[in-house]
Order: sequence, then C-alpha cells, then structure tokens
Amino acid sequence: MSAEIRIKELRERLNYLNYKYYVESKPEATDYEFDMLMRELQDLEALHPELDDPNSPTRRVGSDLTNAFSSVQHAYPMLSLSNTYSQEELHEWADKLTKEIEQEVEFVCELKYDGTAISLTYENDRLVRAVTRGDGTRGDDVTENVRTIGYVPLELQTPSGLPSFEVRGEIFMTYTTFDRLNKEREEAGEQLFANPRNAAAGTLKLQQSKIVAKRGLQFVAYQMEGRELPFTSHSQSLDNLRRWGFPVSSAARVCKSKEEIDNYISHWDEERHNIPTPIDGVVIKVDSYASRRALGRTSKAPKWAVAYKFKAEQALTKLMSVTFQVGRTGAITPVANLAPVHLAGTTVKRATLHNADQIEALDLRIGDMVYVEKGGEIIPKVTGVELSERSAESQPLEYITTCPECGTELVRYEGEAKHYCPNQSGCRPQILGRIIHFIRRKAMNIETLGEETVELLFDSGLITCAADLYDLRAEQLAVLPRLGEKSAANIIQSIRTSTQVPFHRVLFALGIRFVGETTAKYLAAHFLSMDAVMAATREELIEAEEVGAKIADSIVDYFADEQNRTIIEHLRKAGLQFEAEQKQTLSESLAGLNFVISGTFADHSRDELKAIIEAHGGKNLAAVSSNTSYLLAGDKIGPSKLQKATKLGVKIISEQEFMAMIGNQDVAPSQSEIEKPSQNQTPIQGYLF
Ligand code: IVH
Repeated sequence: MSAEIRIKELRERLNYLNYKYYVESKPEATDYEFDMLMRELQDLEALHPELDDPNSPTRRVGSDLTNAFSSVQHAYPMLSLSNTYSQEELHEWADKLTKEIEQEVEFVCELKYDGTAISLTYENDRLVRAVTRGDGTRGDDVTENVRTIGYVPLELQTPSGLPSFEVRGEIFMTYTTFDRLNKEREEAGEQLFANPRNAAAGTLKLQQSKIVAKRGLQFVAYQMEGRELPFTSHSQSLDNLRRWGFPVSSAARVCKSKEEIDNYISHWDEERHNIPTPIDGVVIKVDSYASRRALGRTSKAPKWAVAYKFKAEQALTKLMSVTFQVGRTGAITPVANLAPVHLAGTTVKRATLHNADQIEALDLRIGDMVYVEKGGEIIPKVTGVELSERSAESQPLEYITTCPECGTELVRYEGEAKHYCPNQSGCRPQILGRIIHFIRRKAMNIETLGEETVELLFDSGLITCAADLYDLRAEQLAVLPRLGEKSAANIIQSIRTSTQVPFHRVLFALGIRFVGETTAKYLAAHFLSMDAVMAATREELIEAEEVGAKIADSIVDYFADEQNRTIIEHLRKAGLQFEAEQKQTLSESLAGLNFVISGTFADHSRDELKAIIEAHGGKNLAAVSSNTSYLLAGDKIGPSKLQKATKLGVKIISEQEFMAMIGNQDVAPSQSEIEKPSQNQTPIQGYLF
C-alpha cells in the first residue's frame, strides 16, 4: 500500500475514533489502539512532509511554537445577548415579539454555557479558522489552539455541500477539569484561576498549543452563520450540526409558550447543580429564520434572543473574624470566618477573601453582615456588605503587615496581588508545607507518615526539614502518641523505599516554586542530573522544554539559597536518586556521530530529538565546530549556527532526513514518561445537557 493511501486511511480512522470519543462519548478503541494508530500516522507524516495537512489528527497534540495571535475581522459580527434576571421581563419580551411577528412564535431554549465564545470557519468541510469574540467585530485568531480540542471537528463527517460557513459555540472547562488544573497550579505555587470561565478563556490565549492540548477544554456548538444556509429554522441547523459531527447540547428544546419556557428555566435552575458543565443561565431564541430576519438587531444584540441569567446563590451572614493562612510558598490568604449559613446545599463557615485589595475594595469590617456567594467557584466568596446593618462603631479592617506565624515583615512582589512571608527557612507552616509536599504520593510517596505525624516530628525537634526524615530511627517514632512499633516500622520502611524514587520526582519533591510534576519531568529529561540542574544558568534553564523566565528565575533562586543547598547535600548522602535513569539503547546506528540541533521542528521537540540521538549511540553538542558531523536544522534556525556550519562544511539535515537515518524508529526513551494529552481523558458520558 502506498504511504499516501495509508495516511488517508489512518486520518479517516482517527477522525472517526475522535468523533465517537468526543461527540458521542462512545469510545470504539482502547487508548492503546488509538495511540498506536496515531504513532503510525505521525511516523508516516514525518517521512512524507509533502503529504502534510494542517487538519491531520496528529495536530491535536499541538505544537510548542509560540503563537502570536493576529486579529481577524469577523465575516458576521459576534453580537452579545440582552440579559435579564427576571421572568417577568422575559414574558414581556416574548409578548412583544409575538405582537410584532403577528403570529405564534416558537422558541428554542438552550443552556447558557459559561465559557468563552468562539467562531469556527469551515471551508469545503474543513476547519480553516477559529477566532475569539474580541470586540465583536474583530477577534484573535486562535486556530492552532482550537485544533487541539478534540471536541472540535477538523473535517466534517458529512459533506454539507456549503462552500463556507461559520459555527459559533462556547469553549468551556468542566468543574472536574477546573479543580484538577487548580490543584496542579497550587502544588506548583502558581496563581489559581478564579473560575472555569477564566480558566477556559486563559487557556485559549496560551502561547503554546501543546499546553492547551493538555488542559481538557471542551466545545459545544450553538449557532450557525452563513450565506444561504439550507435551513429555515435554528432547530434544523442544530440537528444538522449534530449530524455533521459537532457536539450540540441535548438540552436544547423547542418551546411553544411562555409556560414551557418557565418550566425549562425552573428545571435547569435546579438541575444545574448536578451537571459537570458550568452554566449561568438559559438562552431563549426565536426558532424561525424568517422571524429572526423580521425582528432584526440593535448594534449590540439580536432582538430575537435573550439570556435569562440565574442568580448566583447568595446568603447573608455575619463576619465573625478574619484569619490569615500562610501557604507552603509563604503566600498569605485571608479567610473570612462566618456565622454558619446554609448555601446551595452546604453549610458555609468560611469564605476566601483572596487578598488585601479585595478586603479594601469591599471595605470589610468585623461584625458586618456580608453576602456570600457560590458562583462558578467551588470555595464560597464574600461579594458584598449590607451597609444598612453596619454598626456605627465598626472600624475598617487593617491588613496584617507581619506574618501571623513567625512575625516576619510581609512583602509584596511586583505584579502579585498577594502578600508573602519571606522567611522561608524559619516560618513553621512554610517548612511544614514543604515537608508535607515532599512526602506526597506523587513526590517521594511517604504518605504513611501523614500530616499530623510530620507536625509532631517537627514540633518535637526530631526533624527540621525533609532531609532529616532519612535520619529517623524506628524507636524515635514508636514512642510518639498514636504510633506503635508496627506503624513506626512501616514508616521507616517507606522512607527507605523512597530512596529509589526516580530523579524527576525527587526534583518535584523539593517544592521549588512553579516546578510542578510536568516541569520536573522536563527538567530531568533535559539536564539528567541534580548537579546539572543546580549548575544551570537562567539561560540554560530556559532551553529546557516548558521552562520560561519565571520558572528559571525561581529555580536559580532556590539553588542560590545556602540552606536549600545544605538540604540537597543531606538528601544526596541519604542516597536519593540524583540522576535520571540510564537510557535505553535502541541501536548503534549513530555511533561516532556528533549532532548540533537548532531551530524548531514539526514532529519532535528538541529534547526528544536529543534523546533519540543518544538512544542510537550519537552525541549531542551545544555548538557547531569542526567536530560536528551534522547540523539538524529546523525552522527559525539560528543564523550564526547556519553560517558556521556552511563555513566548516558541516552537513545540514532536516528532521525528515534525520528520521530516515535511524530508520525512523521513533522512540524517545527519556521522554516516554511525559504524559501525552487528549485521548487519555475519560469522556464524561452525556456531558452535554
Ligand atoms: S447564542 C447572537 N447560545 O453568551 C447570539 N450564546 O452573553 C449568539 N453563550 O457571547 C450567542 N451559551 O459566549 C448563545 N446557548 C448559547 C450560549 C451562548 C453561552 C454565550 C456566548 C455569548 C454570550 C452572550
């Protein structure tokens, strides 16, 4: 079979499997089968760049090239919707329409997804562009990022026969994905997203589509635009979109009266708490295209649709006190302690206040009656003060200037809203937080120890940092309250076992700010040893994948600290893994050859290519010299490297030529642990309501 035919076959099969997985939530292949087909396609595409296709399913994984977004004019303006919180106003709107149209109007009620709007342009049944709403007239071209979202069809299942049309819809994040993302960010000491909407919008504007691919965004289609669409109503267009492979909400309903609309609203006002998808209301649209044309629009919004927004669930309660929590990174979070109040199914006693600016903006005072809301956020927040109930003697709340735990003067870093306690080495919750992070399952996996025991060990002076764990003896533990000989022995055993935990997890366990699990893996794959990471300059660190200036600075700061270096040496003595595991050798086909890699590549990252070279017995060099056998050149190659190679007569080869040299046995061993995105997400059955 020719490569061309096989590539076509693989693309069709993968598109079909994606459709089953994302649109119908009925996977027809195991992850493994899917991955194998994907790999075969990737390999074939690498060998046949002439058969490239920007819509190939291989593009779902995204690239790490930086996307500078260009702004694009919308062919049809992206209008907003008029809002109402009142069913009475909604009735008035429906009555007015009916009068104007002079006949009974049929409506389509849909959920109002709380994400970010997107316009997808299809030409000859292929996705060609994805643009954000922007100012309604022009938006950002985020096509590369949107291509990574499995729910967006890149090629349509059924040819529509239309030369071009637009599909509008919402890109959103489920609560589960949002929670997971924020948890990861918290662990890496990164700023949290306030709600799933911000997370979806922020993700869509990321510069690296590779990261977008991992974030688990979803898409739902709710509107079609185009010249001479072959439908007479919105409901027809939705049915067709569904047939063509778009995820369309199964909650959309034709409603023929105000009563039916009211029922729809009250059903979803309740039910919204039971679905994984964030929604903030219901959109009511006129179904008939002819009636829509008759009604027209204002400059801002169509007259044929309105959004009924749910009121965020609110409760009024008394602010008893404000306490300040100190996190592992020293970040201070003010917490409101409230008189217990019932809100959206739970009793709320505490609410986050985020930072000093928010307290000031609300002019909060102890004893105030405050409004608490549960919006898209999981943690309730204080949104306002009932001033009519404020006592005359109340005083503005003063934000703390020193750490509530260690008394050190707080600092505020440029561009950050939070205050920090800078006393990393002497502030109890920071030290404890680091030790607790160190023992986590995904780090050193010494969770048999437990947080309480860590506190006990610390307070009794048996440990002052994570490294001291390795000097503990069973008899020291056995005498602690709630621990007996048996659990003491278990703990010692798991501490001992932890010395075998691979290097990238040791790096993660150190708790360097912004170095989460994935970054630690990339660092380990790039530098291969603790000593190399410690010796790396800021510029060298940035060379590693997914490491930007902020992360690099944080790593440099961490290793510049004398105390941290002492802990590292202590851990080294304890026998922890400070080197990446020995790489597997695949062949000796590149033995004796020296490579320099420069530029960016379509199918592999630079680190992957380096790993491939080493796995085949070759060597990587940093700079072009007379020793260089090959310059492996990608896009945006450094001009000086190119010049030097030409001058020295070094052979310059492309990624495809390189892959051919090794018979294209594309396995990058040191990278194989890095999670591959997308297919492995569990589809949420019937996520679209
Ligand atoms: S229709 C001109 N339908 O709400 C009408 N919008 O506040 C086009 N939205 O920008 C929009 N769910 O991002 C429509 N089922 C739905 C929607 C929906 C969410 C968003 C959309 C729009 C915003 C307007």
